[in-house]
Amino acid sequence: VTPRVEHVAAPGSPGAAATPAPPLRVALLGFGTVGRSVARILSERTDIASRLRLTHVFNRDVARKRASWAADSIVWTERIEEVFASRPDVVVEAIGGLEPAEDWVRRALQQGLSVVTANKQLIAAAGPRLLRLAADEGCELRFEAAVAGGVPVIQAIQQGLAGDVIARVAGILNGTCNYVLSRMGSGSVSMEDAVTDAIRLGYAEADPTSDVDGVDAAAKLAVLAGVAFHRELRTADVATASIRPVDAVDFRYARRLGRTIRQIAAVEALDAATLHARVGPALVPEASRFGRNEGANNIVAITGRYGGTTAYSGAGAGGDATAVAIVSDLLALSASRGPCGPAEWPAAAMDDAHEGRFYIRFVVRDRPGILANITAALARWRINVDAVLQEPGFPKDRLPFVVTVEPCRELDLRNALNEVDSTDFRIEPLVLPILFE
Ligand SMILES: NC(=O)c1ccc[n+]([C@@H]2O[C@H](COP(=O)([O-])OP(=O)(O)OC[C@H]3O[C@@H](n4cnc5c(N)ncnc54)[C@H](OP(=O)(O)O)[C@@H]3O)[C@@H](O)[C@H]2O)c1
Repeated sequence: VTPRVEHVAAPGSPGAAATPAPPLRVALLGFGTVGRSVARILSERTDIASRLRLTHVFNRDVARKRASWAADSIVWTERIEEVFASRPDVVVEAIGGLEPAEDWVRRALQQGLSVVTANKQLIAAAGPRLLRLAADEGCELRFEAAVAGGVPVIQAIQQGLAGDVIARVAGILNGTCNYVLSRMGSGSVSMEDAVTDAIRLGYAEADPTSDVDGVDAAAKLAVLAGVAFHRELRTADVATASIRPVDAVDFRYARRLGRTIRQIAAVEALDAATLHARVGPALVPEASRFGRNEGANNIVAITGRYGGTTAYSGAGAGGDATAVAIVSDLLALSASRGPCGPAEWPAAAMDDAHEGRFYIRFVVRDRPGILANITAALARWRINVDAVLQEPGFPKDRLPFVVTVEPCRELDLRNALNEVDSTDFRIEPLVLPILFE
């Protein structure tokens, strides 16, 4: 029998089989809703075990967190020093909040360790500085999970749409508001009851202020603006309106206009350095992507100069969906595709001269001449009325009616409304942009 001779190529020669890289050693900070799901996916997905290995789980008072399904080799610790001393390849930050999360993320990057985070608050507040630090230290900071939970919108912009020039990003980024508004739109549920249900079902925090007042969506929009336009958009520069003044009657009027109401977050580039960004309730066509977006779902529509609009939708929150985004970021790191996008996000210039069509809902003590006063004030600011709508069946001393206007500057509209005799108003007029997407 002639022995078989195997050809063995010298390392580095063209025929050499590539030596598989060792798995990335992952340290997980935070074992709450998201962190637990990350650990579970890494434990269950044996198909990626050769690329990612969870070595440490850090949490305060960690003994109560220990999971029986996790590998015995994982070190559970409540000492952050132990995590850094172990020199992992990647730190996953799933703690939330600004401090101590920012301190630990900064420390990891300073040590040259890449970081994956789900923390929109952190990226909105400190993203540009942390990205610069990562670039200086030759590591990466990834944050797919920070916006729209499980919807891979950041990778879509950074990779799938890298060939386009982004002009506009618009979406429904807050599941709580979408749940509340879609409930109000599909039945005669008050805002208060819809918010209570959202809390009961776990869509909203016990204190839903940052959701309903638009702060949460503004932070996510700031992150998206950085990724899409490579400019720093500060959350405070986003024109933010609460959904609180929206009333059940607004859905009746919106329906007469073929529309419904959603909290829309939108940012557009007026030129390479100037952005216009807003978050708040708006009228959208009932049959549009946004109008049909129900429950706590998120949706993001990205408009490129060349490729037109593409849209991405799915679960905006939830441990598993968010953890998928984190694990995808980890896999991208393990494939060492290199950093995505530029490390610099210089400050954006802001444009607040928003122009568009508007819906204005008044609630007045009825008397002759009110409509004439309103239209006269609008005319003084050269604003044309498009339609006047009045639903029957409301008491005269608390009468809601709606005026829609043709395209105008929002600032002019606000000035015109300031000139209307406010003693007739039972409450401040509600101004909603009318969108076409
Ligand atoms: N949940 C979602 O659906 C979702 C979606 C997208 C993004 N995110 C983001 O993901 C991050 C984590 O959210 P989460 O929902 O998983 O929060 P969570 O359930 O409250 O988990 C946070 C974990 O971190 C631990 N922790 C907090 N502060 C700590 C500290 N100073 N030292 C040590 N451990 C600390 C907490 O321990 P204790 O148990 O002792 O509090 C908890 O186990 C946040 O940035 C959030 O915005 C969440």
